[in-house]
Amino acid sequence: MGKLPIDEKIKLTSGQGNWHLFESALLEGRSINVADGPHGVRVYGKAVDAGNFLNQSNLMPATLFPSASAMASTWNKELIENVGKIIGRECRYYQIDVLLGPGINLKRSPLGGRNFEYYSEDPYLTSTIAEAFVKGVQSEHVGACIKHFGLNEQETMRRFVDVKVDERTMHEMYLYPFYKVIKNAQPWMVMSSYNRLNGVYASESSYLLKDILRKRWGYQGVVVSDWGAVQDKVKSLKNGMNIDMPGPSAFESKVKDALQQGTLTERELDESLKPVFDLHKRIQTTQKLKDINFEKHHQRAKSVAEEAIVLLENDGVLPIKNHQTKLGIVGDFAKHPRINGGGSATVRPYKQEIPYDAFKEVFDNIDYAQAYQEEETTDALIAEAVDVAKASDIVLFFTGTTKATETEGQDRPHMMLPVSHLNVFNAMRKINKNIVVILSNGSALDLRSVRPHSRAILETWFLGGAAGKAIVDVVIGAVNPSGRLQETFPYMVEHTPHYPTFPSLETVDYSQDLIMNGYRFYDTHRYEVLYPFGYGLSYATIDYSDIRFVNASDNQSIISVEVTLENHSDIDAYETVQLYVGKNIEYLIKPEKELKAFEKVFVRAKSKAIVTIKVEREAFETYDTRRQQFVVYNGCYTIHVGRHSRAIYATHSVDITDKVTFHPAITFDYPIKFLKLYYPHWYEYIETHYRPLRWHEQEAPIWRILNSYQRHKGIDDVILKQLMKDIKADLDASNK
Ligand code: BGC
Repeated sequence: MGKLPIDEKIKLTSGQGNWHLFESALLEGRSINVADGPHGVRVYGKAVDAGNFLNQSNLMPATLFPSASAMASTWNKELIENVGKIIGRECRYYQIDVLLGPGINLKRSPLGGRNFEYYSEDPYLTSTIAEAFVKGVQSEHVGACIKHFGLNEQETMRRFVDVKVDERTMHEMYLYPFYKVIKNAQPWMVMSSYNRLNGVYASESSYLLKDILRKRWGYQGVVVSDWGAVQDKVKSLKNGMNIDMPGPSAFESKVKDALQQGTLTERELDESLKPVFDLHKRIQTTQKLKDINFEKHHQRAKSVAEEAIVLLENDGVLPIKNHQTKLGIVGDFAKHPRINGGGSATVRPYKQEIPYDAFKEVFDNIDYAQAYQEEETTDALIAEAVDVAKASDIVLFFTGTTKATETEGQDRPHMMLPVSHLNVFNAMRKINKNIVVILSNGSALDLRSVRPHSRAILETWFLGGAAGKAIVDVVIGAVNPSGRLQETFPYMVEHTPHYPTFPSLETVDYSQDLIMNGYRFYDTHRYEVLYPFGYGLSYATIDYSDIRFVNASDNQSIISVEVTLENHSDIDAYETVQLYVGKNIEYLIKPEKELKAFEKVFVRAKSKAIVTIKVEREAFETYDTRRQQFVVYNGCYTIHVGRHSRAIYATHSVDITDKVTFHPAITFDYPIKFLKLYYPHWYEYIETHYRPLRWHEQEAPIWRILNSYQRHKGIDDVILKQLMKDIKADLDASNK
């Protein structure tokens, strides 16, 4: 770095083109290439050419995996680690050094336009799946870039909106996946988001980038801005962001001026370049792959698709075992599948399966009707669909969200299926009662109008290149569906916790989100939902029994849970055992329960499997704003074990007494009630020596009660001062 002239250093603080950074004739080694993900690598033919950005036809082929919603619905860490590894290999093939993904923001409303690209409404599930993915990518010596840091949960006004949030909500919910993935998988890159956080742009927030990311979490990798997110580059550089993308930057002269005026020093510039130099050195040893087996990768995409599909309803119509059944396939998505949401996650699939073709290979009697095109239909198209429905034993109706509604850069206007699709459905259901609905979408839908009139509903998300045979295999029972919802399906958008404020144009308030997001909200408030978090049906009947809770002996875990699963059916099945923790600690706001562990287990037909889940210390943690870290508070915790958040088969209480006591940093200005709660010996002392305190005195400051004690009992100053000193020493000791 020392050898570089200052102008060259300035140049290196931003990209060269869209996908390319750290290029200099004065540096040894090649420059750094980045490409979007996270469902497959999105490589442009000429990676450096800025003009190619919008030209999707110039993309190189790659395996297109099911979208992030679908990946998380597998609840399968090993599988997703393998997906990461495969994408890492394809990066190496195209000489991409850092994959711009995964996106680990939370789903805050089903309307989030980019929900398809995010894993879950839950921070634990998000971080577990993301950690596996990042480990997989990086096992190939290719970097992963977690994005969008942070609190970028709405697309509307994403470059402007200001998120107001308190520290606990931020750390326990929205920053949690970033914290965990950084701690456990060390991603090479972090992308700072467009939005503002408590008034400051994330890409220049010293609180977010310096205090939290760098200092508290010790992150030493590269921070890159989201594309075009930098507003004030000098501030960004000073506050911990390293690379302003894309390039060339509009801010070079501003950086020069700041250096001349001394508002930015060369030392600060060097410090900012240090992580990029480290990354540059790191990538020189990554070997480019000469060959790649896309077909093998595609088969892996198929296994993800199989495990991602969630069976939402089934009255026994599925699986369709008789291949002579007259099938009516209705809906344009059967021939033109929705494979991914729109925007930067677009990938040109190496291979694209077509559901209709895949069904043709298995069933001899198939009739097809297009029924609609995107959002449009006509009377003639509806009539054709009705004719097909009339002539069929079973109708498979392909529907979902359209290109126009689920895409980056905008939020969904509603949670409904397109009106045109519903018109087709309503016309068909009058003459054929055997309708199976096959959904393609990235986030929860309002299914009130189709559910009562369908015999089965399959949620297939955006399944990527393998959106054909996997669906067929689930429909015919060659694959037993095992996907579980990573987000709640409420009945309607009006039931969602942020309905009145999502999306917001200027300011969005996250401050109640600890209990106001997803199942945290519905479960705490006992609201009925259509399909709960963690839900999904199977063709097998699996029973839970002998659920045992055993105190753990190792340091890491607090308790260990053993569950016996019995598969009574003649089909092999996966079952995902879920463990939630709830706390009941006075004045500590907490949702009824939070997912803290899960295990996906294979149970052979007509047999049993025993699964043991260790509940680690972390499962009991709360973010303590006073200590600025996660701690375990003393108190009573409830462990819930079950199939999903609303099917709990056993609960167990755990008393923790040897950790930290929850209370604020109490001073003499605090109500005397706080002494009663947390220092009962002092409270008793005062009551015994003075008199029992009345109800209305409970909220009076400690100093005031002590004063009246002194006045009414005629205590002299020396004794009172000593008493105050003793109490204070106690408070100070535990306030630390
Ligand atoms: C998106 C990022 C993406 C970048 C580059 C931005 O608009 O928010 O997720 O990586 O573009 O395509």
